[in-house]
Amino acid sequence: MDRFQNKSGFAIESDSYGPPPTYDRAQQTTGSKWAPKNWGKKTIIGVVIAVCVLIAVIIIAAVLGSRANAYPDYSALSYSLEDTYSGTDFFDNFEYFNTYDPSAGFVHYVPNTTAQQYNLTYAGQDSAVLRVDYDSGTDSSTGRFSVRVTSKKQYNNGLFVFDVIHSPYGCSTWPALWLSDPSNWPDNGEIDVMEAVNKATSGNQMTLHTTKGCKMDVKRKETGSVLEKNCWNGADDNSGCGVQGPKDTYGETFNNNGGGIYAMEWRDEGIRVWFFNRDSIPSDIPTDVTNKTAPDPSTWGEALADFPNTDCDISSHFRNQSIIANIDLCGSWAGTKSIYSGEDECPGTCTDFVANNTAAFEKAYWEFASFRVYTAS
Ligand SMILES: *[C@@H]1O[C@H](CO)[C@@H](O)[C@H](O)[C@H]1NC(C)=O
Ligand SMILES: *[C@@H]1O[C@H](CO)[C@@H](O)[C@H](O)[C@H]1NC(C)=O
Ligand SMILES: *[C@@H]1O[C@H](CO)[C@@H](O)[C@H](O)[C@H]1NC(C)=O
Ligand SMILES: *[C@@H]1O[C@H](CO)[C@@H](O)[C@H](O)[C@H]1NC(C)=O
Ligand SMILES: *[C@@H]1O[C@H](CO)[C@@H](O)[C@H](O)[C@H]1NC(C)=O
Repeated sequence: MDRFQNKSGFAIESDSYGPPPTYDRAQQTTGSKWAPKNWGKKTIIGVVIAVCVLIAVIIIAAVLGSRANAYPDYSALSYSLEDTYSGTDFFDNFEYFNTYDPSAGFVHYVPNTTAQQYNLTYAGQDSAVLRVDYDSGTDSSTGRFSVRVTSKKQYNNGLFVFDVIHSPYGCSTWPALWLSDPSNWPDNGEIDVMEAVNKATSGNQMTLHTTKGCKMDVKRKETGSVLEKNCWNGADDNSGCGVQGPKDTYGETFNNNGGGIYAMEWRDEGIRVWFFNRDSIPSDIPTDVTNKTAPDPSTWGEALADFPNTDCDISSHFRNQSIIANIDLCGSWAGTKSIYSGEDECPGTCTDFVANNTAAFEKAYWEFASFRVYTAS
């Protein structure tokens, strides 16, 4: 009996396979149909098409592969301090927004005189406070007094360092620290640095909102969790492209740690946001605002949120941005029933809560140590 080993090592008895196969004699003598010289026209066209398709597939795969790996060059820029918002004149650099809330909130944004009268904005030596009315006794049955301020100065690129001591939270609240050009929205874009709703127990959300043609379905280097990837305001009910930070980046936990620093770098290569707890602020961010030393984000490690320019031309989507701080109530995010009473388990209806629970708004305040803006030379 003839035994042999095949490649995978099994012993096969050759005689158990019957007679050897017979070959078609005609093919052996006139040449195989696999030999090109014997192909008909149709076969040749078919093969040419198949080869073309194969080449196209290889090219597309290569392009997709290199696109998936594309990433901007965020090499260090040389920054210098341009503006400092701090001290008793903090609010002098802002306009008070005083018309109906475009986000459909149950709120009355008050002018500066009313804000001062009810102490809703207060700028001391060490910090500035912006709050929702909680003890004035004014009628809140059509909405509660609150504040929205917009920096008089507009920016194009820069490194924005926000030193935040306390973030507002509580049922019905929708606070934000953001940048936008509200009279040219969404054309000039929106950059949300801090934003949360209601009890705000699941961390800070950082989001971009733009016109069509800005997507974040690309390679990114960030520690936060990715939410939606299309920044276009017409997609996903204007959710924007968001990134969620961990629990200590907003609300009660953040406040109990004495807050921290949010640094947002906006440059043509992309927009990145870092968060530093009060006790882990990098040494190149001086807490003393009189120290003009410029920070260097290239030394900070991976950002919390990264919005690279790979599939979003940052310089055409973001222009003329003012710094805005506000506390909305209810409205199209915090007040949506599935969020207010669903996800966030807040009582009754949002507007009833705002109208009838004055004392609930004591914690609904921002406290800022300073804002600093650095520009690259
Ligand atoms: C209040 O705002 C008005 C209009 O911007 C401005 O003229 C005025 O100086 C401000 N007053 C205070 C006390 O800030
Ligand atoms: C106004 O608010 C600030 C900050 O919360 C506080 O320090 C100050 O005592 C308040 N002023 C009055 C008159 O209530
Ligand atoms: C300014 O801040 C930098 C960086 O934190 C520090 O190295 C430097 O000593 C500070 N300068 C002064 C005068 O405090
Ligand atoms: C930005 O603001 C400047 C000064 O107000 C204005 O001239 C310019 O047209 C604005 N650019 C855009 C794109 O809105
Ligand atoms: C607030 O409470 C009053 C009295 O309990 C009630 O009549 C009213 O419907 C509630 N809601 C609002 C929005 O005022």
